[in-house]
Amino acid sequence: MSAEKAYKELTERCREIAVLSSCAGVLGWDERTYMPRGGAQMRAEQLSLLSGMIHSKFTDPRMGELLEELQSSDLAEGDTPEAANIREIKYKFDKATKLPKSLVEEITKTTTLSQGEWVTARKNNDFKHFQPWLEKVLALQIRKADAYGYEGEPYNALLDDYEVGATVDDVADTFEKLRADLVVLLQKIKGAPKKPDVSIVNRDYDVRLQAVFGESVAQAMGYSFETGRLDVTTHPFCTGLGPGDTRITTRYNPKRLNDALFGIMHEAGHGLYEMGLDKENNFGMPIAESASLGIHESQSRMWENQVGRSKQFWKYFYPQAQRIFKESLAGVDLDDFYAAINNVAPSYIRVEADEATYNLHILLRFELERAMVKGDLKPDDVPGEWNSRFEKYFDMKVDTDANGCLQDVHWSAGYMGYFPTYALGNLYSAQFFAQAQKDIPDLMTEIEQGNLLVLRQWLKDNIHRHGSRYRATRLVEKVTGQPLSHKPLVDYMTAKFGEIYGF
Ligand code: CO
Repeated sequence: MSAEKAYKELTERCREIAVLSSCAGVLGWDERTYMPRGGAQMRAEQLSLLSGMIHSKFTDPRMGELLEELQSSDLAEGDTPEAANIREIKYKFDKATKLPKSLVEEITKTTTLSQGEWVTARKNNDFKHFQPWLEKVLALQIRKADAYGYEGEPYNALLDDYEVGATVDDVADTFEKLRADLVVLLQKIKGAPKKPDVSIVNRDYDVRLQAVFGESVAQAMGYSFETGRLDVTTHPFCTGLGPGDTRITTRYNPKRLNDALFGIMHEAGHGLYEMGLDKENNFGMPIAESASLGIHESQSRMWENQVGRSKQFWKYFYPQAQRIFKESLAGVDLDDFYAAINNVAPSYIRVEADEATYNLHILLRFELERAMVKGDLKPDDVPGEWNSRFEKYFDMKVDTDANGCLQDVHWSAGYMGYFPTYALGNLYSAQFFAQAQKDIPDLMTEIEQGNLLVLRQWLKDNIHRHGSRYRATRLVEKVTGQPLSHKPLVDYMTAKFGEIYGF
């Protein structure tokens, strides 16, 4: 068989697997938006069946034969899209063939049920209700790490699922540097002479008007409602279901403007990445998939923070916001509004945290899940450990587990190793945005005029169109000419908060 023929067969197989995955994606989206609670058992069965089918197809010995043949062919050589596809599929194939089908199905079934139990536990603020599920999920994660095999500690095997090639030691090292600078920054903010008036954003904001305004901002960013939707959910997310179908969700707080607005910009940032991947031509192939979760998160955080929380963005959008939210924003200056949306204050909930404290929320979770997977922390001790660390980092006592260790869906969903990608996303986003400003010298002026598509195009050209042709570390170097560093994020935050807080 010629290499071209083998490559064609590989492409067809990958597309079929991607179609099946997209079916699971639709069911997953429905589960988190409109499914009645009573559908949980059946949905677990549906998703478990599909994940088993996907796993069987992907680990079919024929895939191994094709990859073997392609690896020793000319197609695997050089820096071409084909070579990248072969390399990345082979890498995933080797990992997937290490997982027994029964384990994959058990993980899917358990985590689907445990997410439902987590919802109940969080609602009733009842960690004991969730604890046995956390134990089950953790045991399965450790079995998964053992099946993959790893160097150093088992957490490396789990992290690799979300950020290929990242190691727990590298991540911990970068986070440590970031933490040292963050502590200094937060101290300056705490002792600063100026304080934003946050009451401005904590007034009545009609939910229907928030939806109208949020959609108009998403549209200005280039998020298409022809190929995308925006729905309401408890825990906002984005899912790319295939060519022409991307879904984002948000949640509205009638007493606070920030949550839904910046939540929509965040998810639309993810959505633009999904829309910018070359799925029309390469659906199912790595070059039409995101480079990593950290890179995905860099896209959402850039729109949410570097753009959405910039003065320039609001020079254009603030007059519109004032027209829409007449009563709450009447007589409020742009500068006061800008300071209010950038207020820094320790808070319990990660997804509502400000830019400066957000990364501390991630460091806390990273440390706890790393310890759990290592066997140094028992699920039983999670609330106590969470609360004592939280107090140390944030100088604040956790009042309830719902505001503490029960707030995130991740552990119930079996996403251990996922949290670090949020902080990596912030680091990548600052480094990319600094580069975008170098490449487009009048970028901030364009944003001031409401022309957000200039940035969207730059992201498409530099990041989206590559998919996972380059791994995250290489992509960052390719786009910015430098390896990942905590400095661009710290420099950006120091300049911005220095101006707002007057230090
Ligand atoms: Co995100």
